[in-house]
Amino acid sequence: MDQYAVFGHPIKHSKSPRIHSLFAEQTQQQLQYHAQEVPADNFQQAVNDFFKQGGKGLNCTVPLKELAWQHADRLSERARFSKAVNTLAIQENGELLGDNTDGIGLMADLTINHKIALKNQRILILGAGGASRGIIAPLMEQSPSEIVIANRTVDKAISLGEEFAELGSIQGCSYQALKNRQFDLILNATSASLSGQLPPLADNLLAEQGFCYDLAYANTPTAFVNWGLQHHAEKSLDGLGMLVEQAAEAFFIWRGVRPETQDIIALLNSERAG
Ligand code: ATR
Repeated sequence: MDQYAVFGHPIKHSKSPRIHSLFAEQTQQQLQYHAQEVPADNFQQAVNDFFKQGGKGLNCTVPLKELAWQHADRLSERARFSKAVNTLAIQENGELLGDNTDGIGLMADLTINHKIALKNQRILILGAGGASRGIIAPLMEQSPSEIVIANRTVDKAISLGEEFAELGSIQGCSYQALKNRQFDLILNATSASLSGQLPPLADNLLAEQGFCYDLAYANTPTAFVNWGLQHHAEKSLDGLGMLVEQAAEAFFIWRGVRPETQDIIALLNSERAG
């Protein structure tokens, strides 16, 4: 049977094996998908072993996405832009194609599943690491009026803004510089939420009927999702939908068929609610 896997560290609580086996069942594809604990210093060896043993495709998650980007023989354009790879696929000629489906996964969840229109909207991204980098270009394609990136380490936000400046109005700044500003959509791309922390956010930061979206997900609401609820967000969402959507795109790259995602998102949501 064709073998797939997700590599990461830590990986124990990954929902990816469950998601991909639901996809396989739904699309009647024969495959196996497992999660494998791979620390960064063992990445190269683990990838080589996996494909030598006939593996067909890999997902890479924290902290391996940049290493996967370096390791790929060939990159999709969106992976080149994001400097991160979450999907590796072995090609017929033996080359490893590196792609990144995180951005398109977020867009599908925001604009299709939640019907959040981004045109002319003011978007704030919290954080300036790899997760932020991967979502800027697809967000820009929706023609927001502006994107602001706020980060604790201000220099990183400023240089990320400069890197994408040719795509539209985008600027990096500190959290303090957000004083008296308002946004229609605030995306949390920091890793703070998972340890129960939050960047310093002013109470009037979210515009009326604005949306909050945490790229991270957990079985209970993240600190940022709670912040959104407390600040009367129209919707305050976590990244479970994005996780399923990025997985569906990876599945499509590997198998040439795109699974239906809505029922699977609903199922995973009901499981964590129960
Ligand atoms: P990833 O690749 O997942 O984005 P990363 O590159 O380590 O991970 O980036 C993590 C982001 O979360 C960074 O923007 C980081 O801010 P710094 O650049 O100032 O380190 C941000 N972050 C992590 N913990 C935070 C906290 N407690 N408050 C605010 N920002 C935090």
